[in-house]
Amino acid sequence: MTKRNSAWNRTRASNKLGIEYPIIQGPLGGFSSQRLTAAVSNFGGLGSFGAQGLAPSEIQEVVAEIRSLTNKPFAMNLWVSMEDEGAATSDAEAFERALSHLAPHLEAVGASKPQFSPYKPLRFKDQVRVLLDAKVPAFSFIYGVPPKEILEECHRQDIVTIGTATTPDEAIALEQAGVDMVVASGFEAGGHRGSFLRSSEDSLTGTISLVPQVVDAVGVPVVAAGGIADARGIAAVFALGAQGVQMGTVFLACEESGATRLHREAILSGKARRTSLTRGFTGRLARGIHNQLLEEMNRPGVAILPYPLQRALMRNLSVPAQQAGRSEFLTLWAGQSAGIAQYSNVATLLQSLVNGASAKLASCSDGQQPPGHDKSASANARGSPARSTSIEKSALGS
Ligand SMILES: Cc1cc2nc3c(=O)[nH]c(=O)nc-3n(C[C@H](O)[C@H](O)[C@H](O)COP(=O)(O)O)c2cc1C
Repeated sequence: MTKRNSAWNRTRASNKLGIEYPIIQGPLGGFSSQRLTAAVSNFGGLGSFGAQGLAPSEIQEVVAEIRSLTNKPFAMNLWVSMEDEGAATSDAEAFERALSHLAPHLEAVGASKPQFSPYKPLRFKDQVRVLLDAKVPAFSFIYGVPPKEILEECHRQDIVTIGTATTPDEAIALEQAGVDMVVASGFEAGGHRGSFLRSSEDSLTGTISLVPQVVDAVGVPVVAAGGIADARGIAAVFALGAQGVQMGTVFLACEESGATRLHREAILSGKARRTSLTRGFTGRLARGIHNQLLEEMNRPGVAILPYPLQRALMRNLSVPAQQAGRSEFLTLWAGQSAGIAQYSNVATLLQSLVNGASAKLASCSDGQQPPGHDKSASANARGSPARSTSIEKSALGS
């Protein structure tokens, strides 16, 4: 049997994206940086930039800057659904109720009390127009399926589309809409759960269960995300049939990311072993390090504004808490594998992933999936009903 040596990296995902290694640096929302995106792409992975919080003109500038730093493919990421019910009508009274939980902490870090101001929404359709006009190499998204005409325009412009699924049903919906590849994002992942067919609380499948179900449910390449922090994780999800990986937390810990020093240190300190899900940081369910703030925001009875108002409210604390060096009051996003993150720059991290994956996956024969994957023999053929496990909200920690 011929060994495929380091040919593990030649997958349908890496071929479609035109990259050397099927390793995607996951978009990191407001913690993205042009430098991080370009560093990953220059190494041969796919750097991504989370632009959901930016106005169209800012997105245009970011794309231009990334292009000045790399001539390799990169992805721009948006959120298809940008606000939750009630955001447009939420009033000063609701603001004061939500603010009351933060008031003592604002005082502790010497910050003044913020005032209610009416919500000014950003619109997905305006943001995506910029990406289409700029003909970015890849467009990734969460929280839904973009309208048909946008996906069609992407195909006409050769923009690779990457949707995000937290359940097999969502993966099927994305494939049926015509997306080019699907990120299967397990419960372990840092940041938001991008669920769109059921509530996030009811879409909490773990990566080891989700990836093979999504691989069996769709024909497009599947990229595994959630809890992958080293070459062992890459080998594991390749064995489950993934054609690539998307990693977030380990890139967040790198000096090139937009995360603050306190945040990066919290991930790399080895003390990030406990993470939890919360709606308290933004109004949508997301995973972060279980610190004092997260614990308090998860208490019963805490008033939380609809997304994105809660996010804007929490920023009033994040900035002064950061200046005061009070990490117990920060929204420290991280996934469950933060405890094994160990590299603080992109080149060292990627080199270790590539070396490790090459060694671990070299035993696979040329052109074949790793042992154990037989799509045709699968009981979960395409179109079969998705299986999911509901868990009690009280068990969302860890
Ligand atoms: C701080 C942070 C922000 C994120 N923002 C986005 C985002 O805007 N869009 C998106 O599709 N994924 C986002 N993600 C998810 C990551 O791209 C990636 O899929 C996830 O982190 C993978 O799981 P891991 O953290 O266990 O590596 C974010 C993750 C983190 C930690």
